[in-house]
Amino acid sequence: MRYLTAGESHGKYLTGILEGFPAGVHITRAYIAAQLKRRRQAPGRSSRQALETDNFEIISGLDGDVTTGAPISVLVENKSRALPASSSVPRPGHADLAGMLKYGTFNAGLIRERASARETAARVTLGSFALRLHEILGVQIYSRILSLGAIGSITAATAAAELARARRAGDTLGGTFEVIAENLPAGLGNFTQWDRRLGARLGSAMMGINGVKGFEVGGGFGLAAIGGIEASKDPEVSGGLDGGMTNGRALILHCAVKPVPGLPGGTMSSDLRNFKKTLSVSRTSDTTAVFAATVVAEHAAALELAVALLEKFGGDSLAEIKPRVDEWRKRTGKILSRL
Ligand SMILES: Cc1cc2nc3c(=O)[nH]c(=O)nc-3n(C[C@H](O)[C@H](O)[C@H](O)COP(=O)(O)O)c2cc1C
Repeated sequence: MRYLTAGESHGKYLTGILEGFPAGVHITRAYIAAQLKRRRQAPGRSSRQALETDNFEIISGLDGDVTTGAPISVLVENKSRALPASSSVPRPGHADLAGMLKYGTFNAGLIRERASARETAARVTLGSFALRLHEILGVQIYSRILSLGAIGSITAATAAAELARARRAGDTLGGTFEVIAENLPAGLGNFTQWDRRLGARLGSAMMGINGVKGFEVGGGFGLAAIGGIEASKDPEVSGGLDGGMTNGRALILHCAVKPVPGLPGGTMSSDLRNFKKTLSVSRTSDTTAVFAATVVAEHAAALELAVALLEKFGGDSLAEIKPRVDEWRKRTGKILSRL
């Protein structure tokens, strides 16, 4: 299974293709719409989200509400289509400067249109199919915010207060989150080659989310500071992966998201045409991306886990795959339950 997206932030549509997804998976438009809404209406987002409706179309790969095995292609509409004026002022902390150098352009807009996290709407649309497949196979994938800025215990009230404080201060926030997958079959991924290790593949998917700057599995960085004796007492420190494979325990991934670089008051930059110091101002910017990124991460993880699951169990249709997964769980469960 593989997937790709295309489209720009203010183009007519974002598009995505999911190829190799099995036939026979029941998924409704309402299910996909609900996932997109979770991303769109996550706390901390800008006024653009009030405009976007994430209307989408499934162009291929579905017969009614059931996948056919053919490539699934999706379109997600952009309501906001007014292109920002051409600008030779790169926004610090964004893809602008490196992208302008890379593609030899003085128009930062050409870079930001595709580098924008608006693209993640297409990834969530494709990821909905993977999430649904896992759901049918009894795998639960969910996420939780661990921190917002410096605030560690996040409730709706503490998050709202911290976001309001940051807005008043003209500031933005980062944060951390975890993605958990329960009831994954043991043995997904592989130790036989570095790039088949599941942690490497999930790390790539998580670090592929705009603004994610840190990734760890289970105990992660904390493991560096404890001894082997202490580490050996808690099997959760592996985060569900040993030797690049699922070990039958819950998969636990942690990510750190940097504060949104687009500050309401603008950020000092330089005009690349004349090198004059210039203020770069974002028209609309989220106060934090951490809540929305968490939803994206669930979908990105679901896609990678679906790739690994299909590698292990193969099959063109759910009717082939499900009995294989059930049988495997029965067989490995007999051993795992006695340890
Ligand atoms: C869902 C989502 C929404 C985001 N919204 C904004 C935003 O409104 N303004 C902004 O400056 N950055 C936003 N970001 C972060 C930037 O896209 C990201 O920092 C930038 O593309 C540079 O990429 P890098 O931080 O991975 O290097 C968002 C990220 C995500 C995942």
